[in-house]
Amino acid sequence: MEQQLNDLRQTAMAELQDASDMEKLTEIRVKYLGKKGSLTSLLKGLGSLSPEERPRVGQLVNVVRAAMEEALTAKTEAIKEAALEKRLASEKIDVTLPGRKAAIGHKHPVTLTMNRIKEIFMRMGFSIEEGPEIEQDYFNFEAMNLPKDHPARDMQDSFYITEEFLLRTHTSPVQARTMQKTEPNQPIRIISPGKVFRRDYDATHSPMFHQVEGLVVDKNVSFSDLKGTLEMFVHEMFGDNVGVRLRPSFFPFTEPSAEVDISCVMCHGQGCRVCSGTGWLEILGSGMVHPHVLEMSGYDPNKVSGFAFGMGVERIAMLVYGIDDLRLFYENDLRFLRQF
Ligand code: PHE
Repeated sequence: MEQQLNDLRQTAMAELQDASDMEKLTEIRVKYLGKKGSLTSLLKGLGSLSPEERPRVGQLVNVVRAAMEEALTAKTEAIKEAALEKRLASEKIDVTLPGRKAAIGHKHPVTLTMNRIKEIFMRMGFSIEEGPEIEQDYFNFEAMNLPKDHPARDMQDSFYITEEFLLRTHTSPVQARTMQKTEPNQPIRIISPGKVFRRDYDATHSPMFHQVEGLVVDKNVSFSDLKGTLEMFVHEMFGDNVGVRLRPSFFPFTEPSAEVDISCVMCHGQGCRVCSGTGWLEILGSGMVHPHVLEMSGYDPNKVSGFAFGMGVERIAMLVYGIDDLRLFYENDLRFLRQF
């Protein structure tokens, strides 16, 4: 039986030596060490041995088994290593290939236009003031000379939250907020960009849109300052050859008031569909700050005067980029957004 064990060990080792893949290794493991394998059946013969012989042969079985296990593990490692080496030898990685760029997106056309507007006014010495989007009725209307039940409130059909709070319908409340937090009669030169909300929805109106408010208050501020400042803005924004026209208008918080038109950017004043044949496009509202508005916020209309303006950012972006439907700004269609 000892002879048998040694023979078994020798043939198994020889087979293992020749094995070159994992399938063959599994086959060998089953053949010798498996439940019905040769070593297991030999073990069953142990019972026929004499009690003296039994422990010695039993020990030999264990030695043979351990040797075979060890050889199998070593061979498994060797085969794996050879496979890896072979792959590394044939696989070529070109480290000089350019990497894949991560897509990082870009700014929205409304943001681009907003930034351009800010930049122009900041160069003229304006600073930026912000106000809340959820505004008190007092600042949105009352302090802007629109008392309760004033019919002009209807021009800005609005979203109320409570009787006292609403989503602001324009950025003008920042005028009153700025004056109230500034030492009375001290000079002010600010713009205030932000979101505003009205109950409108069509090709040129959205329930949420952006405005930039402007306010200048100081001694001897005149209507010509308003005109000069806004002309400068228009020429920076749309180009030097664009015409500017001021048209008398009405706002409760300015007196006199003027609407500012620019010559049509599509037809250059000839008259087309975009300007409804007039050759002009309205871009903002403006006027001299109403004495009552100054007074309500602690400024003395006998000592200082001011002008204010408010423009719609989407409207300006539409004219700059030639976009004919304002709703495109909010649909997040990449075919649209990728053009800017
Ligand atoms: N707040 C006005 C509007 O939203 C615009 C405006 C601002 C007009 C300041 C005059 C002065 O329509």
